[in-house]
Amino acid sequence: MMELKSKETIVRQRYAAGAKERAEKLCCPVNYEQSYLSVIPQEVIERDYGCGDPSRYLRPGETVLDLGSGTGKICFIAAQIVGSTGKVIGVDMTGEMLEVARRNAPIVAERLGYANVEFRKGRIQDLALDLELLDRQLRENPITSAASFLAAEELAGELRVKHPLVASDSVDVVVSNCVLNLVEPESKRKLFDEIFRVLKKGGRAVICDITSDEEVPEAMQTDPELWSGCISGALTEEGFLQAFEQAGFYGIQILKRDAQPWRTVQGIEFRSVTIEAYKGKQGECFERNQAVIYRGPFKEVLDDDNHRMERGKRYAVCDKTYSLYKKAPYSESFEFVDPVVDIPSDEAKLFDCSRNAARHPRETKGQNYSLTTEASSKCRDAGGCC
Ligand SMILES: C[S@@+](CC[C@H](N)C(=O)[O-])C[C@H]1O[C@@H](n2cnc3c(N)ncnc32)[C@H](O)[C@@H]1O
Repeated sequence: MMELKSKETIVRQRYAAGAKERAEKLCCPVNYEQSYLSVIPQEVIERDYGCGDPSRYLRPGETVLDLGSGTGKICFIAAQIVGSTGKVIGVDMTGEMLEVARRNAPIVAERLGYANVEFRKGRIQDLALDLELLDRQLRENPITSAASFLAAEELAGELRVKHPLVASDSVDVVVSNCVLNLVEPESKRKLFDEIFRVLKKGGRAVICDITSDEEVPEAMQTDPELWSGCISGALTEEGFLQAFEQAGFYGIQILKRDAQPWRTVQGIEFRSVTIEAYKGKQGECFERNQAVIYRGPFKEVLDDDNHRMERGKRYAVCDKTYSLYKKAPYSESFEFVDPVVDIPSDEAKLFDCSRNAARHPRETKGQNYSLTTEASSKCRDAGGCC
């Protein structure tokens, strides 16, 4: 049975020990790209407690935040992918993990020839609170009474606003490797909201985590060994995706799902899943007479704003949706129909969301469009069109 200690304390203690000495039971074998490992010191590589590799979805120049960075392996791989123009921030709540990561950061930087990684202390469900800054302030004003305890809570609130550990809208990609499951159930909603908060509009989350194929029973959730061992805090595969949806993400997809479970406990399968989710569907809708055609292969699709589209039909969409569809992860799924006469953004009226979603070609071409042409030379040159 779970002791009176909170789940968070049990997790911190287990990973503090795991930072000092490799803990076999916490390891889920992952094949990282070997070429990136050569600059990373051995103690970092061997104290690897991940279950996937979110770094392979990163791009040069990006600002990356790694939640629960441990001894820093994913950060040090990411540092090489984003390059000297990019930046990597690792956040962890366990001092012993941060100590290993920070001690090895200058070694990696020297081998790479640039330093673009830093590690910060915080809880990933509360990314605004800088725990080291709070520590320094509390050393000056220690908690000695109920009144000073309440004052400390107020101070923490002030620090979140004035000196956030991770600022809002500041990160291109949030990654994480086998950590979200460790956050206690009552803070999980806040965790997904925090991931959303720190991402820039157009940014994305790429998260590897352990998920379950069935709901985890209460008795398993109160087992400290199973909880801190990345098992019983797992969300179901379905619940994992829904949590991103609830936080306001769009374009959520499974990038990788291990066919084989990592572990099976009491018949419940626990396996690693990697998902991607985008931020940026919020905002006003303007009418610029654009249309999209869903290419298939499914008979119809439904997006995260409840636009339902049948294969092959033309649909009216607002300028925001049109721009979203032109980018990943949607661009390959649609054909795009621009109006014959462009409506400049600053002249566009609000899009009528109550209208019939079908868009007649006369809407994009204009009612009086009456052009007649010869076969286009482009088509003839390609040897097509008779
Ligand atoms: C399973 S290990 C994964 C470490 C690392 N991502 C890797 O790939 O090796 C979990 C890490 O998350 C940290 N952690 C767990 N819960 C956390 C929380 N709520 N806030 C911040 N860090 C947390 C632990 O201290 C530990 O370093």
